[in-house]
Amino acid sequence: MLLRRALWASLALALVGCPGFGDEYLTVDETPRFTADVQPILERWCTSCHTDPPTSGAPMPLLTHGQVVAFLEPVRVRTLVQQTMPPGGGMDPDDRAVLGAWIAAGAPNDTPDGGPPPDQGVGPTWAADIVPMIMEHGCAFDGCHGGATPQIGLDLSSYAGFVAGGNNGPVHGDGDPAASRFVDSLYGRNGIARMPLGGGVSPAQLATVEAWIQAGHPEQ
Ligand code: HEC
Repeated sequence: MLLRRALWASLALALVGCPGFGDEYLTVDETPRFTADVQPILERWCTSCHTDPPTSGAPMPLLTHGQVVAFLEPVRVRTLVQQTMPPGGGMDPDDRAVLGAWIAAGAPNDTPDGGPPPDQGVGPTWAADIVPMIMEHGCAFDGCHGGATPQIGLDLSSYAGFVAGGNNGPVHGDGDPAASRFVDSLYGRNGIARMPLGGGVSPAQLATVEAWIQAGHPEQ
């Protein structure tokens, strides 16, 4: 049993009839798991809006472990402290306790790699996943990584261009996202400016790119 309410507290609640009286006696016995405990709570209260792509003006998806962890502190503040998410409040206190216990335990992950992005039966490919991202962010525009003289010699308007890499050689990292300068550029790390300039890719897109690199950056 994940949740345990002290018996006398519920008795007292029944007798006194004081709403919310039992809440502070709510305890969570075990560390909640992301898949079994937290994801169902997000489905109940959050992912009607925080889906992928998000709806109703919600700024980000909260489907996978990686997506939630990327917004862990705002999630904690908005659901547990301010209680302004979901909009209008009303979240079940039991669910709030489980979410809080999971966050307090360091938001452990029981999915292999943060979970693949949803609705992806097969792994990500250049054609299905990377090209739409490149188009959305204008990476291959003339004067950026496209046209006659692409920046740093990296032409992202074709798969061959991506594989060839830039002036400093390949950027794909040979199956290792940590060694990929393409991934580095999306994070803006290891001395590489964050791409795209002026606005990053979403956490979901980052997770997709990393999974794609890890799978050996397949074209199809
Ligand atoms: C009815 C749609 C809806 C639901 C359901 C909903 N949200 Fe939101 N959420 C929004 C909208 C719209 C915003 C942007 C406006 C704002 O910040 O209030 C937002 C913003 C947020 C933010 C702020 C993001 C940032 O950049 O700081 C967090 C965190 C958040 N939601 C978490 C949650 C969590 C966790 C749940 C479930 C417990 C949830 N939301 C349920 C619509 C929703």
